[in-house]
Amino acid sequence: MPYAHITGWGMAVPEKILTNDDLSKMVETNDQWIRERTGIRERRIAKDGETTSSLGVEAALKALTVANLRPTDLDLIICSTSTPDYIFPATACLIQDQIGATKAGAFDLLAACSGFIYATNMAAQAIRSGSIKNALVIGAETLSRFVNWKDRNTCILFGDGAGAFVLQASEKPGGVHSAVMHSDGSGGDLLAIPGGGSAIPASEATVHAGRHYIEMDGKEVFRFATRVMTQATLEALDAAGMTIEDVHWIVPHQANIRIIEAAARGLKQPMDKFIVNLDRYGNTSTASIPIAVVEAVEKGQLKSGDKFVMVGFGAGLTWGALAAEWTGPLPSKGQVRPSQYRALGRIRSFVRRVIRFIEGIIFRREL
Ligand code: UT7
Repeated sequence: MPYAHITGWGMAVPEKILTNDDLSKMVETNDQWIRERTGIRERRIAKDGETTSSLGVEAALKALTVANLRPTDLDLIICSTSTPDYIFPATACLIQDQIGATKAGAFDLLAACSGFIYATNMAAQAIRSGSIKNALVIGAETLSRFVNWKDRNTCILFGDGAGAFVLQASEKPGGVHSAVMHSDGSGGDLLAIPGGGSAIPASEATVHAGRHYIEMDGKEVFRFATRVMTQATLEALDAAGMTIEDVHWIVPHQANIRIIEAAARGLKQPMDKFIVNLDRYGNTSTASIPIAVVEAVEKGQLKSGDKFVMVGFGAGLTWGALAAEWTGPLPSKGQVRPSQYRALGRIRSFVRRVIRFIEGIIFRREL
């Protein structure tokens, strides 16, 4: 049975920074409260025209460059997001088109902040079953488009960004060892965007009532998070035949420093074993774990051969953890520059549209 190795990684965040002081001019809050209760100092906000798919494309192309893999070699693209460009088509298909991954199947996965763990596990399972060889997993969000900027309970928490992994089959042992995925839909109302779906279709009244914004019971989500982080980490390690002492790094969902500190206490591990960057990005939901991994690699913290756990929780409710060994980039087989494929992808996409248009005319004539 092949192993599923993480051979490429990349991240993308918008340039625009929103500080706590900026927020204090928008709602009744202050820098001290936000820092003490959450650990967040600033977050990134997408500018006009920047979307979940555009951030996803940037992260994906970086991951493909590290993996030295052509987009045309991809068999599967999974985009984990709660803030897609559209209800449909899937954001994964928009990314597939823009990077020119012409041979890949593509779909979105919605497991909120746990989504990147779910998606990486799904891709790893497909590789380990032998049905595919190369997968791209993306976690991307533009939460700023769904935040009520008048609600101080939520608007201080969230930020925008994307992270991506390339996973590849190899006979060499290592890569993704195990994962656990859990859910409890009875807590679905604790964190939700209620409007705009089939239950509460968008209307003038729903928009007026702000039902298309994120609604959250922060205290309940906090309580749930502190309970499941320790439990999921230990379950994933157990399934991998590892103990917490074997692990070099824990990469938690970046929601609140107090939740991460509670997990450290629960696992009886020092805080310096946890990768934390929420002070600079806030909570980017499903993108938070891959962004933290990419930064840890770039800082030289997470190194080839290191064992690590990614653990998260979120709306749904969902939670999960994944235990893996960091592979690092494979020996270079020649320079692949996926950005070239982006340009080619655009041309190919245009040609396909023209062909579909001409086929439409011919089809109508034949009728
Ligand atoms: O990816 C999953 C996403 N969600 C989460 O991770 C959320 C988890 N929950 C949390 O992180 C925390 O519950 C929050 C950060 C959201 C809130 O922190 P808290 O310590 O649970 O505060 P609280 O809701 O109990 O509020 C304490 C006080 C209240 O005032 P009173 O009633 O004690 O007078 C709030 O009205 O703080 C007030 N407050 C604020 N004050 C200044 C609430 N938000 C703010 C604010 N600035 N932004």
